[in-house]
Amino acid sequence: MFASPLAFPTQLPPHIKRTVDGPAFDAKKHLALTFPERIETLADFGYSAEVQARTPSPVAITSPFRVLSDEGVAALDGVLQDLKADQTVSTGKRLSVFLRGGVYRSKFLRDLVRSPEFVEHLSTIAGTPLAPHPVGQFQAYVNYAPEDPKKAVDNWHVDSLGFDAVMMVNDPKKLKGGRFQYFRGTHQEAAALVGAKDEQQLTQGWTNDLPAERVVSAEFPGAGYAFFMQGDFVFHRAGQLEEPGDRITVVPGYIARDLRFPDRTKTLGMQAWGDPQVLTEVARHAAWLGREKLALLLERADFNSSSDRLAIAENLEGAVADVLRIAREMREAAAGRIVGQTPTKQQ
Ligand SMILES: [Fe+2]
Repeated sequence: MFASPLAFPTQLPPHIKRTVDGPAFDAKKHLALTFPERIETLADFGYSAEVQARTPSPVAITSPFRVLSDEGVAALDGVLQDLKADQTVSTGKRLSVFLRGGVYRSKFLRDLVRSPEFVEHLSTIAGTPLAPHPVGQFQAYVNYAPEDPKKAVDNWHVDSLGFDAVMMVNDPKKLKGGRFQYFRGTHQEAAALVGAKDEQQLTQGWTNDLPAERVVSAEFPGAGYAFFMQGDFVFHRAGQLEEPGDRITVVPGYIARDLRFPDRTKTLGMQAWGDPQVLTEVARHAAWLGREKLALLLERADFNSSSDRLAIAENLEGAVADVLRIAREMREAAAGRIVGQTPTKQQ
């Protein structure tokens, strides 16, 4: 049994004062889905069998593939140009200019990243069923280019969630620089190269130069193309532009519906984010995990089930383990015991 996706909240967060809905999303009109030509696997990156067992997907990262039709690109660009007025400029080491809570601000953006056609397509690429991430702000992360081209669009990092796509909204041929790059290697290698103590610290922005022969630059063939990755296993960055340009990327985020695998959402680090809705989103994420795992338990518990008390206790504890872990993290954060986090950092 796979987890059912979490419904979108019925209310918008109160700090969202303006929405730019855009045209009605129509998958037939706005999508032009193709498959990637190449897939690099976690094994190609050097991840051990033990690490690979943490995820139902073998994919590390794909080559770019087409997602949006020309009409889709025009509609999305229109929405995001308008929403640019609501961007946030980061003072941290991570994203320089980004949009908070994009899915709450535009129905077009929300319906695009949550569209069953797109989610199913990405699930086919991943080799496991995916759902829009329960944390709303992960569902459509939007990065804008900083006005100062000397600033990187985003420094080296791993993501705080398992699955995401990076979609180029503008024509990359009109841009100089600003290329998406990734390190072909493991967490341990990346951490050793930049001086991070662990994988958690890799979510912070790192400005180090990495050995050129280990770095791959992704080439987007055009606007509306994306690549897909397990972003918490791939150390990546959006490099600096060589001259000012309009570079907008949308990063839709997903979660595996196969709950036999651990939740890789970095819920502890997220507690330090400045987004006003983040605590509600983390609570919803925890409650969704608990609800779905309890539902699975209910489905399996019949009168022929094991009468081994310890096994039953273990199953019950397992079903609510994420809820209790995230509640503990909330208490840690409330007591000010989260260290090494930058409040403005994101995905
Ligand atoms: Fe990222």
